[in-house]
Amino acid sequence: MSSSKSVTLPNMANYWVPFTANRQFKSMPRLFKAAKGNYFTSIDDREILDSTAGLWCVPAGHGRAEIATAVGNQLMTLDYAPAFQSSHPLAFEAAERLAEYMPAGLDRIFFTNSGSECADTALKIALAYHRVTGNPLRNKLIGRERGYHGVNFGGIAVGGIAGNRKAFGNSLAGVDHIRHPLDIAKNAFTKGVPADGGIALANEFEQRMMTLHDPATIAALIIEPMQGSAGVIVPPAAYLKRLREICTKHGILLIFDEVITGFGRLGTKFGADYFDVIPDILTCAKGLTNGVVPMGAVAVKRDIYDAFMENSAAGAIELPHGYTYSAIPIACAAAIATLNIFATEKLEDRAATLSTYFETAAHSLKGLPMVKDIRNIGLVAGIEFEPIAGKPGALAFATYLKCYEMGVHVRFTGDIIAISPPLTIEKYEIDRIFNTLSDAIKFVIAQGEAGLDANSYLKNEQAWAMHNQQNT
Ligand SMILES: Cc1ncc(COP(=O)(O)O)c(C=O)c1O
Repeated sequence: MSSSKSVTLPNMANYWVPFTANRQFKSMPRLFKAAKGNYFTSIDDREILDSTAGLWCVPAGHGRAEIATAVGNQLMTLDYAPAFQSSHPLAFEAAERLAEYMPAGLDRIFFTNSGSECADTALKIALAYHRVTGNPLRNKLIGRERGYHGVNFGGIAVGGIAGNRKAFGNSLAGVDHIRHPLDIAKNAFTKGVPADGGIALANEFEQRMMTLHDPATIAALIIEPMQGSAGVIVPPAAYLKRLREICTKHGILLIFDEVITGFGRLGTKFGADYFDVIPDILTCAKGLTNGVVPMGAVAVKRDIYDAFMENSAAGAIELPHGYTYSAIPIACAAAIATLNIFATEKLEDRAATLSTYFETAAHSLKGLPMVKDIRNIGLVAGIEFEPIAGKPGALAFATYLKCYEMGVHVRFTGDIIAISPPLTIEKYEIDRIFNTLSDAIKFVIAQGEAGLDANSYLKNEQAWAMHNQQNT
């Protein structure tokens, strides 16, 4: 690793950085210029271990030549074909390949460009399905507290993260939420899936929702099998199976948002496989193309698709929905290349094999000051801190900055650090992630108030370059 002589920071005035404190970030940017395998290279040439697989979206590691070649070739062969009223063979091949990868029965595929578009697409399909089958009064949508289904209006309506909703006022009507399954008082530091309470919690859905709403008015329940963005919330055993039973009993469609849990994250292809529960609709994105081309997919059970085909007037567009870039050729090429990598390298199995090692490493942080809970499943871990009065998220943010300084990219959300490395991670890299995290937590806490101040950390890559120069 060499330090560069000088780093030129870009003009940062024009770009509005998403989900980011722009004023703070622009005074203290963290910029990557390259990535390969499990590492980023920052613009001052530091190697940064990627413990988050980008934004959970690079399961096969960065810079995969197979995907780059497939995308490059596709660009020079067929860059674009109109997505409505015409198509191209690769769209059908990508759908066929993805259907083979899906849990049994989920073999009709609608392509989108993101997880957010998937959530809204799935909700629209659910509503339209009930109409097309003669049940227009089934029009309520149920989500879950602390759920994340992206940022579009449907997704934030059924989502349950307050900060993502309140800035935008009213969204959809006819939406309600069930409780999230996190119970730190009872389950703190549980390794993997909590054993108890799942059935009672699921039954609460039936008791509360059926009392509040006539079950015949509920179109769908949408949940993430494991809640990722709100801080790695692992459901208790039997909970999802019981929810499935309740949905089936009342004719409610069950939607699994597998944007994070898809593609091996839990050590299985999907969360549905891990928990042995098959939803009616499953959404995925991110890992579908290994994060390199925006693409999402909504897989529906065949009878849902058939209902549209059988009950729509001849010649009618059965689902008036779609995107200009649905199944754009390069996304299909990237998806097929990614599925090939999964088939060859069995990345789900790799994740499953590594998960015990990963779990032990994650739970080695138990006992550190301020660490309130550690949760894990597959190759995901969440480390939750005690809240600090008046400074929500400050400890996690400072820990993130310190880890970055120490060459490991982690993710923070509220008072939680989330770790979700590429499935290509090695054991020594897992050690490095959690050792760094441990050192960073100790460091930040030892500094007291100053440790929580973002200004205590090196400001930007330019400062880094100078710092490195002085130290070599
Ligand atoms: C479960 C879930 N659904 C939807 C989304 C939104 O995906 P995108 O950012 O691709 O729109 C995410 C993103 O993290 C997610 O975790």
